[in-house]
Amino acid sequence: MSNSIKWQSPSNIALVKYWGKRDKQIPTNASISFTLKNCHTTTELIYESKETTADYDINVFLEDELKESFKPKIISFFDNISHKVSFLKQYKFTIKTSNSFPHSSGIASSASGMSALALCICSMEEQLTDKKFNKADFLKRASMLSRLGSGSACRSLYPGLASWGKHEAIPGSSDEYATPFTDAHPIFKDFQDTILLVDQGQKEVSSTVGHSLMNGHPFAANRFQEANKNLSIIKDILKNGNLQDFTKLVEQEALMLHAMMMTSDPYFLLFKPNTLQIINKIWEYRNQNNTNFVITLDAGANVHFLYPKSEATEAMTLINNELIAFCENNAYISDEVGSGPIQLA
Ligand code: PMV
Repeated sequence: MSNSIKWQSPSNIALVKYWGKRDKQIPTNASISFTLKNCHTTTELIYESKETTADYDINVFLEDELKESFKPKIISFFDNISHKVSFLKQYKFTIKTSNSFPHSSGIASSASGMSALALCICSMEEQLTDKKFNKADFLKRASMLSRLGSGSACRSLYPGLASWGKHEAIPGSSDEYATPFTDAHPIFKDFQDTILLVDQGQKEVSSTVGHSLMNGHPFAANRFQEANKNLSIIKDILKNGNLQDFTKLVEQEALMLHAMMMTSDPYFLLFKPNTLQIINKIWEYRNQNNTNFVITLDAGANVHFLYPKSEATEAMTLINNELIAFCENNAYISDEVGSGPIQLA
């Protein structure tokens, strides 16, 4: 007899970036992100008990297609969490997963994918033991397991904003799981994020390689210090809603992340010419029209264009008139701050 569990979990975009890790996915600095709404992964975990417990038995389907290439990542995730979850070799798993955004869009699915799978495993634990965690403990456990799949995934568990990494200014913060940031100014509750897809290919540098390049990086110690300082500062900005300060800090963070990549050994330049075109257009418009348009970037060429909801009409006009020309196939994804994962029937 088989049982099934299904969760939908969102992606997130970091405002203060995590870049560098040690030991078992322990971050070298604290980070904070907006949880997104429209970019999410839906994962169904179907399990049935099996006779032998020597190895894992996993089949993964992406959009109904068997994906052998996804298996090693899931096996390594299961290995990473096996000291916390003891029953993984006792069951045969069918994992059916799909993303709300195109797999080839250049948008990383690891945060949404790993958090959705971790949630399924936590629900499975509840089913097997007939024990119900309270909601806070359940999410904390799911966040901790997600982290062992993909660091940034641990922040996707919470609505609005979530921080991750031990930090003196964030009570209850931990290197092992994320903490919800609940006292944000209302302006941030529905902040918009239009992801301008400059490059829809595979990531040029995997995040595993990227993080490892911070080991022995000449500016590493300063970077980790700056990021932790920025987290203290953004905490106040997120409370008081000062958008000028928000813009400066978020953009500095994004550019510092890329500066780290440009100065590592080996070095990487992940901007494409169109990344710079878009950034300059947004800055030019902001200077001329006094808007609160903000850019941020992941470890890639796509631009996350952030703006308050009240400026959405103006932003969309700029996107359609000027920015989509620099996007691959004119493509962009409209997203905004979201309310966290949901369990589906
Ligand atoms: O979670 P990972 O290992 O894919 O690393 C993500 C790193 C960044 O997206 C560049 C920054 C962040 O904090 O999300």
